[in-house]
Amino acid sequence: MSVILTRGRVPKTPHSEFYSEPEVLALEEIHGVTGFSGDWSRKYHYRKYPTQQVSEPKRLPLDLRPQTMAPHQPLQPWHIRTGRLKAHGDHISGRVPLVYGPTTLVSAARFEKSCPAQRFFRNGDGHELWFVQEGSGLIASEFGVLPFRKGHYVNLPKGTTYRVELASEDCQLLVVESRMPIQFAPHYLNASGQAHLTAPVVETEVGLPEYRPARDEEGEFRVWTKHGGGLVTELFLGHHPFDLIGWEGALYPYTFHTDDQHPLARQIHTAPPTRQTFQSGTAPHNGFAICTFKGQIEGWNPRDVPAPYAHYNVDSDEVMFFSNTTYGARKGLVEPGSFTFHPGSLPHSPHGMAAKRSFAERGKLSDYLAVMLDTFYEPLEVAKQALPLADKDYPLSWNRDTQGVSAE
Ligand SMILES: [Fe+2]
Repeated sequence: MSVILTRGRVPKTPHSEFYSEPEVLALEEIHGVTGFSGDWSRKYHYRKYPTQQVSEPKRLPLDLRPQTMAPHQPLQPWHIRTGRLKAHGDHISGRVPLVYGPTTLVSAARFEKSCPAQRFFRNGDGHELWFVQEGSGLIASEFGVLPFRKGHYVNLPKGTTYRVELASEDCQLLVVESRMPIQFAPHYLNASGQAHLTAPVVETEVGLPEYRPARDEEGEFRVWTKHGGGLVTELFLGHHPFDLIGWEGALYPYTFHTDDQHPLARQIHTAPPTRQTFQSGTAPHNGFAICTFKGQIEGWNPRDVPAPYAHYNVDSDEVMFFSNTTYGARKGLVEPGSFTFHPGSLPHSPHGMAAKRSFAERGKLSDYLAVMLDTFYEPLEVAKQALPLADKDYPLSWNRDTQGVSAE
């Protein structure tokens, strides 16, 4: 959505003489996507450019690249139990890659540490979208501060310099990264960028960064920068990276809570696109769509089948993250934090007698919460790092009674 913000002080005329304080020229930076054609923000640094490094950059041993399985596994559906991850590290080192493709990486993270005070993270590879499964905290960035808690999406544009301060003992995330910008679904927006009056999202419920005064400080500030698909280089600045006396634009981190997704109900079963919240790239031609499966009034047609149909979306690889376990089609099988991956080369369907059982849900308010990501023309692979969490019995689970009710 086109919520163009101004925070702090900025000049009326771009790229014109402007001072942080008498005799100190503010230094302008454009932070933008899609070359000079996409969303951007204009930043005014207090007195130094962000390029001013004071020591040689250092490659860290940390390697966040997804590992390819060799030999390749057979074509199969996957169930990966991310809720069983043990908390370790911070929001960077605690990431475990789950699935990946040429432009997309999905990881789970369960971490217990805030970023050290003088250390920052910048993802130079991908735009990040988090779903917060458990925990709460604060994201501090050059744009300001953003609180987050369970149930939030956190959207962090590529190149944002930020730190995470945990408020809870640990924190569990689903982390989606895309080489392309991740935005609210454009078909919910009018030509001016406002959400349509029929959209499930509204501008006033987006969590926006609260500005903090520029940190005009000298010292040693380390910026861990992710690049090259998962390598991490430590950059050393002699000045605090949160040194903006002001900024304005449409590119900045924000939050959106799943409580504020307003589902669109239909008299008969609704297909996932009505539940879409975000997308990357120019879906459905590339990139992916992200749908929020949030409880809603189920179809009230007297003969409606609320459970989904089997579906074979041949151009989409589908992943689904189950925040709770009440989603009827996978009942008896998923646990909080379950992550399923259904490759587009295979059809998939509800388990067991979910269709028949779902008759009881007609016209009632459901209470499931799950996040779905469907790629378009981008096949995904399971990362080797996810194997210890995999449910080996999943491929044959449609052939057994997972719900106490035989499918016969
Ligand atoms: Fe599906």
